Amino acid sequence: MRELGTLIAIDGPSASGKSSVARGVAQELGFIYVDSGALYRGVTWLALESGLDGSDEAAVMQVVDAVAWRFFVEAGAVVFSIDEVRPGEALRGKAVREAVSRFAALPRVRSFVVSRLRSHAQLGSLVIEGRDIGSAVFPDTPLKFYLDADERERAMRRHRELMAAGESEKAEEVLLSLKRRDKMDAARVHDPLRVPVGAVRIDSTSLNLKEVIEVVINRVLEC
Ligand code: DC
Repeated sequence: MRELGTLIAIDGPSASGKSSVARGVAQELGFIYVDSGALYRGVTWLALESGLDGSDEAAVMQVVDAVAWRFFVEAGAVVFSIDEVRPGEALRGKAVREAVSRFAALPRVRSFVVSRLRSHAQLGSLVIEGRDIGSAVFPDTPLKFYLDADERERAMRRHRELMAAGESEKAEEVLLSLKRRDKMDAARVHDPLRVPVGAVRIDSTSLNLKEVIEVVINRVLEC
């Protein structure tokens, strides 16, 4: 069996800056970037396209199991297709954004995603970001980080991202939606969002992206 590479787990709540930090760390170290939330979004997109609302787990798994999921590395990141279709920007759209926490709470959806994520370790050294990477997906990795920032700061960052993407949500709505998702992610029974045992906590409220990336890389190089 091929020896597994280094695994860096970066967890944290919505808009804590995980994606940008994980991408930056991966680029700097020449590792592969993995966005685990994209897979939950992929399942959600597929289920919504099939007319499901997440209330019937068996029906969701039926559509998930009926399609071909293909994973490949493109520009330093793991990407996937579903029956040869790349859902692309739809994964970031409002319909998926509003529904994803509901689908991510389904235990069989979680098992499906966790097993796919674990198999990514065969691809090489990874920087993988999500909500349960250090606690449930790769609990044995010594390189765990938990990124957080003040709730208002996170909502402002998310609002700026949405405006840049041409969406017109009000700042207050963004804050409410973020609170709702954080609550669901932390309250779900299976692998809730929490600080993994042994994780380095980073509060990025008053740090810029470069500074957070530096904290992570320095720690990785120390280990
Ligand atoms: O990081 P994101 O916003 O793309 O995550 C989408 C949803 O998936 C969010 O509700 C949390 C959930 N998620 C999860 O439960 N576990 C992960 N490892 C990644 C995301």
